[in-house]
Amino acid sequence: MELARPSRKTNGVGVQVGDTQVCVVMVGLPARGKSLIAQKAQRYLKWLSIDARVFNVGNYRRKGAAQPTADFFDVNNAEGERVRRAAAEAAVNDMIKWFKHEHGIIAILDATNSTKSRRRWIKDRCDSEGIETLFVESKCDDEDLIMSNILEVKTTSPDYKGQDPEKAAQDFRNRIRNYEKIYETIDESEQDLTYLKIMDVGKRCIINAIQDYLQSRVVYYLMNLHIKRRSIWLSRHGESMYNVTGQIGGDADLSPRGEQYASKLPELVMQSFEGQEHPLTVWTSTLKRTIATARHLPKEWNQLQWKALDELDSGVCDNMTYAEIAEEYPEDFEARDQDKYNYRYRGGESYRDVVIRLEPIIMELERSENILIVTHQAILRCIYAYFMKEDQERSPWLNVPLHCLIKLTPRAYGTEKVVYKANIDAVSTWRGKGSKALHEDPTEETESLAK
Ligand code: ADP
Ligand code: F6P
Ligand code: PEP
Repeated sequence: MELARPSRKTNGVGVQVGDTQVCVVMVGLPARGKSLIAQKAQRYLKWLSIDARVFNVGNYRRKGAAQPTADFFDVNNAEGERVRRAAAEAAVNDMIKWFKHEHGIIAILDATNSTKSRRRWIKDRCDSEGIETLFVESKCDDEDLIMSNILEVKTTSPDYKGQDPEKAAQDFRNRIRNYEKIYETIDESEQDLTYLKIMDVGKRCIINAIQDYLQSRVVYYLMNLHIKRRSIWLSRHGESMYNVTGQIGGDADLSPRGEQYASKLPELVMQSFEGQEHPLTVWTSTLKRTIATARHLPKEWNQLQWKALDELDSGVCDNMTYAEIAEEYPEDFEARDQDKYNYRYRGGESYRDVVIRLEPIIMELERSENILIVTHQAILRCIYAYFMKEDQERSPWLNVPLHCLIKLTPRAYGTEKVVYKANIDAVSTWRGKGSKALHEDPTEETESLAK
C-alpha cells in the first residue's frame, strides 16, 4: 500500500515551498472586496492542503467597539484610533503565534492597512520573525460598484446588525469618506515591498518584487478572479455499463438508462435557466461516457475535452469491482478505507493527486463565466469540495448520485446550490466504509451533492 502523504516541504501542491511562511496583507478602502478576496484565497489554499488562515482586524475591533458610527473612523477621534490600533496589534500578535506554534503557511491579514506607516509597521514585525510579506491592494473608484458592494454586504455586517439598511449604507459611505482623508495607495516610495495591486476589479494589475513560487501562485490566483454573476453546472455522465456491473475505471459505454439521461440533459439544463437563456461552455473528460452524455446539448455551445477531468486513475484495480479488489488486494482495500483522501492506488492516483491535477481546472473556472462540466464521481467530489469548502476527511465519501444536475452560483459569501433531478433510475455507485457490496444505498447520514 502506498500513501501519497504530503511532506512539510511540498505541502501537497507538488512543489517545494520549504519553510516559507507568508503574510498576505490586504490594503484598500472599505468595500473594495478585501474580505471576499481573503476568504477566497484561504479556501483555494486549504483545498490545495496549504494551511491558511484569515486574521480579520474588524473582528478584533468589534470586541472593543461593536457598532461604531462613521465618526469612530475619523482620524481626529483619538479613542477610535486607540481601539483600532489595539485591534491591529492583537491580530498581528495572534498571527505571529499561529506561524510559530501551529506552523501555518499563509496568513491573510484582512484590514484596510491604508497608510504607509501601518504597512511599514506590519512589514517590520514580519521581517523580524522571518515571515515574508505580500501586500495585496484592491483599488476601485467606480462609485456605482462601491454602492452596490455596500448594499450587498455591508448593511448586513455585524457593524449594522438590527439597523435600518438605508441608514447603515449612508453611515458606511461616511466611514469611507473618513478613510479617504488618510488613505495612501501603494506608490514609488514603497518599491521595496512585494505587492500586487488589483485595479478596477482586475482590469489592470501591477506586480512588484514577487519573491518565490508560493507568492506567485497566490498572485496568479488573485489575478484570475472576477465578480460577474455566473453559474457552474455539474453532472456525472449517464449510467455506464461499468456502473451496472459495479466495475470501476475503464472506458465503458452508456447503459440504456445512461442514454436516456443524455437525451434528457438539454431539457434539464434549460429548466435550470429558469426562464433566462445563458451562453454556456461545456467541458467533458476525454472518456466515452462523458462525451456521449454531452452529445445532445445545443451545437452552438462550445465543447471542450479535458484530460484533467478523467476519472481518478485506479491503477492495477482498473476494471475491477470493489469485491474483487478486496479479494485480490485486501491490505490496499483496508488502507483506502482508513485514509481515502491520501490512499494512492498501485500505479494510479489518490484524491490528493486528483486535486493537484484539477488545479488548472479551478483556475480556468475562476476566469470563466457559465460552464457546464460533465465528468466523474471522484472528480465531482473534488470540484464540489472547492466550491463548498468540504474538508478532505469528508469529500471522498460524498454521495454523488447519477442522473442529476447541480447548479452552483458563487455569491459574495458562500455558494448557492440548486439540484435538478432527471427522474431516470440509475444504480448507486456510492460505497460505505468497509463495504464490498455491488450497489449500496447511502446511509441517512451520508452527505449528498443532490440535497
Ligand atoms: P472590504 O473587505 O474591502 O470592505 P468586502 O469584501 O466586504 O469589502 O466586499 C465584498 C464586495 O466587493 C462584493 O460585493 C464583491 O462583489 C465586491 N468585490 C470583490 N472584489 C472586488 C474588487 N477587486 N474591487 C471591488 N469590489 C470587489
Ligand atoms: O464507480 C464509478 C467510479 O467513477 C469509478 O470509476 C471510480 O473509481 C469510483 O467511482 C470513485 O469512487 P470511490 O473513490 O468512492 O471509489
Ligand atoms: C475595522 O475596524 O473594521 C478595520 C478594518 O480596521 P482598520 O481600518 O484599522 O484596518
